[in-house]
Order: sequence, then structure tokens, then C-alpha cells
Amino acid sequence: MILKDKVCLITGSARGIGYAIAEELAANGAKIVLTDVLEDVLDESVRKLSSTGAEVIGIPLDVSDSAQVTAAVAKAKESLGSIDLLVNNAGVTKDTLLLRMSEADWDFVLKVNLKGAFLMTQAVAKVMTKQRSGKIVNISSVVGLMGNAGQVNYSSSKAGLLGLTKSAASELAGRGICVNAIAPGFIETEMTAKLPDAARSAFLDNIPLKRAGSPADIAKTVLFLASPASDYVTGQVLGVNGGLYM
Ligand SMILES: NC(=O)c1ccc[n+]([C@@H]2O[C@H](COP(=O)([O-])OP(=O)(O)OC[C@H]3O[C@@H](n4cnc5c(N)ncnc54)[C@H](O)[C@@H]3O)[C@@H](O)[C@H]2O)c1
Repeated sequence: MILKDKVCLITGSARGIGYAIAEELAANGAKIVLTDVLEDVLDESVRKLSSTGAEVIGIPLDVSDSAQVTAAVAKAKESLGSIDLLVNNAGVTKDTLLLRMSEADWDFVLKVNLKGAFLMTQAVAKVMTKQRSGKIVNISSVVGLMGNAGQVNYSSSKAGLLGLTKSAASELAGRGICVNAIAPGFIETEMTAKLPDAARSAFLDNIPLKRAGSPADIAKTVLFLASPASDYVTGQVLGVNGGLYM
């Protein structure tokens, strides 16, 4: 129960990696705030996680909308008393080659993946600054480090998250707040299920550990970054990718 009674808010956590993170943190004693734009899936996930005995609330939230972000952070704090961990996990893709990418495809992905993390970090940092403690974990991607054909918008948003991580870590360290990023490799979720077979095989053939990652692989790394075991770690990027990028 390494996170006993710690309040953890995870964005985009109705399914996939976000939900797996919530399960892992709850299993270690945390109180969970699940948030997502998919309201039906969110309701079902709140029921599922509550049935394990965890203390969970669900807040519908589009991270790219500043008014919703402010209201959701206030509601989480009011309902559970503090916010000890923020995981910026919500993310979208809109893949196509650079020469075909529309301005709308670019704006949509940057707005959710990068602006959303900025809005959430700013709102939660105000709470954590008053507490003089907290941890923030940004879910970036291996393609934010190495780039990827067909993902100019997505890889830019994920590289941008690394800049956000390091700058926020520098600004918030004096307030007892650690900010780190995880760069997952190829993880089996609905996001990767929609990739064409050729793209899937290209990733899998290049993974030295010879398997795709699971949402639980990422959740365990978040647990480390949420726990006192990482109290001297800030401004870092942890690759969790089976060796795909070293
Ligand atoms: N699956 C992978 O291989 C992989 C690799 C690297 C990084 N990631 C990152 O991990 C995170 C989780 O991805 P996943 O694979 O679980 O995908 P997913 O599509 O299953 O989950 C993403 C979640 O974000 C939510 N979301 C989308 N737009 C939102 C918004 N505007 N506001 C709030 N929530 C929103 C979705 O509803 C969904 O529940 C993403 O940031 C993704 O970029 C995934």
C-alpha cells in the first residue's frame, strides 16, 4: 500500500493505458479520479474499478477545454481533499503523411496531446504548489524521441511534452513537485489496434525483447514515478519500449 490515500488524477483513463494505470495505483492504496471524454466508457470503468474496493470518482473531461479543466481539478480537490499525482495520459492520433496532412489534423492532435497537458499541469500545479508536494507524469511516446513516418503531428506533440516536462520540472522543483515523462514503445491498446498490419510488423520486428508492451508495463513505471522510491527523480524521460529505442 505504497500510495495509501494518495489522490491520483489520470486523464484519458476510461480505457487502455490510462485505465491500467488507475488499476495499478488503486491496488497500491491510492484514491482515483478517472477522467475521460468518453462518458459511457468512463461510467462503466468507474463501476468496474469501484467493485475492486477502490475509492474512485469519475469526472467527464475534455483536456483541451480550459473551462472543463479548471472545473474538473476543482471538483477532484473538493471531493477527495488533495491531488498528489497527475498523469497526463489522454492522447489521440490522426496519422497521415506530411504532404497530405491537413491543418485540422495538426491542430486536433496538438490541442489534445500538448495543450491538454499544459492546461492540466497548470491547473494541478496550483493545487500542488499550495500543498508543497506532488508528482506529475506525462505519457509521451518513443516517436517523440525518434520520429515516425506518418506521424508528424503526433510525434511533434509527444516531443513537445518532453519540453513541457523538463521546463515544468525546473520551475516546480522548489515547491516539492517532481515532473517526469514516460516514453512508451509499442503497447497493445485500441490506439495501436487501428495501425495497418505493415506498421505493426515494422514495430514488432524491431523490438529486442521480442514482444509488444502491455498497458500494465506502463502502469508499473507510473507506480515507480508516483511512489517515494522516485523522490530524487525529476525532469527525466523513462523509455518503456522493450529496447525499441535506446
Ligand atoms: N498504445 C501505444 O502503443 C502508445 C505508445 C506510446 C504512447 N502512447 C500514449 O499513451 C496514452 C494512452 O494511449 P492508449 O494506447 O491507451 O490509447 P486509447 O485510445 O485507448 O486511450 C486514450 C484515451 O484518451 C481519451 N481521450 C482522447 N481525447 C481526449 C480528450 N480530449 N480529453 C480527455 N480524454 C481524451 C480517449 O477517450 C481514451 O480513453 C496516449 O497519450 C498515447 O499517445 C500509447
